[in-house]
Amino acid sequence: MCGIVAYIGPNQAYNFLIKGLQRLEYRGYDSAGIALIENNEIKVYKEHGKVQDLVDKINGKIISGNIGIGHTRWATHGEPNQINAHPHLSGNGELAVIHNGIIENYATLKEVLEKSGHVFKSDTDTEVLIHLIEEIKSQENCSLFEAVRLALNEVVGAYAIVILSNNDPDTIIGARKGSPLVIGIGNNVGEYFMASDATPIIEYTRKVTYLNDNEIAEIKKGQLVVKTIENKEKTPFIQNLEISLEAIEKGGFEHFMLKEIFEQPKSIHDSFRGRIDSKDLKIEMRSLNEFENKIKNLKRIIIVACGTSWHAGLVGEYLFEDFARIPVEVEYASEFRYRNPVLYPEDLVIAISQSGETADTLAALELAKKSGATVFGVCNVVGSSIPRMTDAGAYTHAGPEIGVASTKAFTAQVTVLVLLALGFAQRRGSISDSKLRNILQEMERIPAKVDKVLKSSETIIKEISEKYYNVRNFLYLGRGYNFPVALEGALKLKEISYIHAEGYPAAEMKHGPIALIDEEMPVVVIATQNEIYEKALSNIQEVKARKGKIIAIVTENDEKVKNLAEFCIEIPETEDALAPLLSTIPLQLLSYHIAVLRGCNVDQPRNLAKSVTVE
Ligand code: G6P
Repeated sequence: MCGIVAYIGPNQAYNFLIKGLQRLEYRGYDSAGIALIENNEIKVYKEHGKVQDLVDKINGKIISGNIGIGHTRWATHGEPNQINAHPHLSGNGELAVIHNGIIENYATLKEVLEKSGHVFKSDTDTEVLIHLIEEIKSQENCSLFEAVRLALNEVVGAYAIVILSNNDPDTIIGARKGSPLVIGIGNNVGEYFMASDATPIIEYTRKVTYLNDNEIAEIKKGQLVVKTIENKEKTPFIQNLEISLEAIEKGGFEHFMLKEIFEQPKSIHDSFRGRIDSKDLKIEMRSLNEFENKIKNLKRIIIVACGTSWHAGLVGEYLFEDFARIPVEVEYASEFRYRNPVLYPEDLVIAISQSGETADTLAALELAKKSGATVFGVCNVVGSSIPRMTDAGAYTHAGPEIGVASTKAFTAQVTVLVLLALGFAQRRGSISDSKLRNILQEMERIPAKVDKVLKSSETIIKEISEKYYNVRNFLYLGRGYNFPVALEGALKLKEISYIHAEGYPAAEMKHGPIALIDEEMPVVVIATQNEIYEKALSNIQEVKARKGKIIAIVTENDEKVKNLAEFCIEIPETEDALAPLLSTIPLQLLSYHIAVLRGCNVDQPRNLAKSVTVE
């Protein structure tokens, strides 16, 4: 959460900062601000609201400076207003900071600083940090780098920070612990960019280096030096990024979310392309080969994740148990990490995360690592923190996901989990060749089937949305592989339309939620053809008997549900294990169209952020 950008080089910083903040706005949009050094003076512009509000406030005024920082905020400490917006200045106005994360011991630090005369303007933890650096700098009479380093040794919490000083107008300092920070090496001499992720940078350079935890980067007089907070010099690992610029633009769609929903035939294909061979029955992934022995002897898998990724994890549970016959536990990372969980070195812990940066998932993984378990990651953002700390894993290849509500990342995660589960099953001998062939062949057909769902379902989904966009509650029901889909459908609706929605295993409905059903209540039931189809049918009858309005997701040519449901959305027939890849699509579209009709900000829903780097 919170997006940060910084520039130092021969060009004007302003345009990069604003455009960069707009690209990072998915990380938080409570306020925006920039600071630039002009004529040895730090000038700060900040505003409550979105980056556009800041631009409007600046109102075409020319803002010059070859060095600057920018921030888009997701509020943690202090309400979202102009005063609490970043950048924050030191008491003497010589230093400016932007910060993503939380300084947990800020209250204690603040008390001490106040005693030595510091006066604070905002309620933020960030302002305390910059005053601390100022205090150390004057007490120790040291360089800015040293003051930052000493301050960070006193700080408890998570941060990615960038600091400017009007006394060092050729210097920019960035540091990270727990929150991401990437440095771009520009094509011009002495030009560097910094950002929370690479999206603001790729327009200017592909050459980047990711800071590791407890590292501080100083760019001074055109030179980049990286040191640890213990003051040990490190050689930065410079890599070339492959993301294309189109991938982070809307490409003619009204919203990123809609673009990303429609990208799914490709993102699913990209996630299995080159990894499966349905003729020779091969599933090739580095993790499968390198950990073959471990996989063969595995007694337990624990999946840790948050949000939509946790729902993908639930699909993973069905997959691994079904095919590889390994018991699976799926954990909310935030609960797992504080529960004193029982972990064994023989366990495999899989973290699923689109961003690869979610603080709770990272912490859960660290815990697992400490206990000696093998840790895998299923992540989308290349070079992010989780893949860098895992023993192995697989990227999802969904491409950049900008809409805050996750869509294509979910189906890409499910795709990769299918491959891992089948790969595990094959190495453990728990799946027959014919079953494996069927699923692999069907996987190859999935992108075309997703495409078909996208094209065939939009009209009916718009009709359903028109009818129900004003209701206050929705219920989503599913069984088996479709149960996590019901949870995900409900989450999508809640996130972007602010309609209360609950997902439930269909049969559990009679243990509570059935009391909610009346003639006003739309109930979305995912009832595709599988072994428990008849059971789902009975659940539909139960809703119908209470006059609930049924919106059903069914397999093509289904006749039975048609007689009971008010609306039926058809999806092509597929293997049960792959059904989530199809049945999720209409639910994404339904929440999208309902949110649009309600006038909601689809890509940036209120109070949410895409990358949750605080716990
Ligand atoms: C936030 C996002 C969700 C996402 C969750 C986990 O809440 O709004 O869309 O599912 O974080 O994020 P991750 O990057 O770990 O998948």
